Amino acid sequence: MHSAKLSIVVPTYKERGNVAELVRRLDLALAGIAWEAIFVDDNSPDGTAGAVKDIAANDSRVRCIRRVGRRGLAGACIEGMLSSAAPYVAVIDADLQHDEKILPNMLAHLESGEADLVAATRYVEGGSSTGGLSEKRGAISRLATHLTQRLVGTPLSDPMSGFFMMRRDRLEEVAPKLSPVGFKILLDIAATAGDRLKIAEQPYQFSERFAGESKFNVQIGVEFLGLLLAKMTGDLVDPRFIFFAIVGTLGLIVHLIVLKLCLAFLSAPSLPASGADLFQVSQVIATFVAMTSNFLLNNELTYRDRRLKGFSALRGYLLFCLLCSAGALANVDLASWLYAGRSVWWLAGAAGAIMGALWNYAMSTLFVWRAR
Ligand code: GDD
Ligand code: MN
Repeated sequence: MHSAKLSIVVPTYKERGNVAELVRRLDLALAGIAWEAIFVDDNSPDGTAGAVKDIAANDSRVRCIRRVGRRGLAGACIEGMLSSAAPYVAVIDADLQHDEKILPNMLAHLESGEADLVAATRYVEGGSSTGGLSEKRGAISRLATHLTQRLVGTPLSDPMSGFFMMRRDRLEEVAPKLSPVGFKILLDIAATAGDRLKIAEQPYQFSERFAGESKFNVQIGVEFLGLLLAKMTGDLVDPRFIFFAIVGTLGLIVHLIVLKLCLAFLSAPSLPASGADLFQVSQVIATFVAMTSNFLLNNELTYRDRRLKGFSALRGYLLFCLLCSAGALANVDLASWLYAGRSVWWLAGAAGAIMGALWNYAMSTLFVWRAR
């Protein structure tokens, strides 16, 4: 038995109805090529991993990486490609929207040495997306394509595509710099590698899903903006920063509302506190409420791929509060000092909160949701 020349990586989430048909079509399309299929399943509740392993039990070309406690298309693709030892790796969706019949042609481009990466594209002569995208999704896709070409300056006509093939050695070089967040793995690879990567394109017709539903949603759209931001700033800004910024802004609003409520409520005549003391107490309360809501939102959004659950969430929350309390103390001090000087409640409150937020970001990434 010879080992595979081409690894086909298939990210899956809730695709049980598609895997058998995909393997059947790969078998037809890749006759005469030593291939293997690596499914990377994020513990789909519909039992996709089990379905793949049933096939794998009778077909040694098929295997399955079942990831638990993690979600994310890009991360799944990276992990699948890095598990390969073949000289060439491809990524294809499980839902049969991508035309597997062009795979041998893509491989030929790589073997001839004319390209390091071949991207399948819907947007050149011979390709089309009308079959597989609704009118709304088509418009979003074209807008995103346009934005990307303007902002990132990639040579790809279809940077949103999740269908490509490349030399594994090139992938291994860029892998440590890729983001596991979001849908846009091809764009990330092309933008990260820059001029070092010779890219060819192969048109195809995007068709309808075979079974199941799309996993695309608003959150994935925001993640995409984060990736654009990262690539525009030469990876200075982490893609997850955009979420942290959104959560931080919400936290600031929560903070100011609570602060205002406290100032109104606590200033009842029953509390004979001096102005400064009242403000201090209010700022402390507002800080803790905002800190709690920030923890919950960051756990759901910003660090979704490292989400803490059950006991580790409680532990994480306590650690978060502990680490942030130093920041909170400084925050209250700064705010009180500013308030004492100027008596502008919202300016003092916001300045303290912003300083606290910067500290929280650094501490969170380092200690609470650290990379495992
Ligand atoms: N492991 C894993 N984890 N796989 C995932 C996840 C995840 O969190 N989310 C989605 N997938 C898998 C799906 O099971 C499918 O095989 C593939 O990734 C694409 O997901 P779809 O949900 O079918 O995406 P789409 O059809 O809406 O989007 C397609 O078109 C876009 C361009 O319009 C994809 O090809 C995108 O990559 C492409 O950008
Ligand atoms: Mn799809």
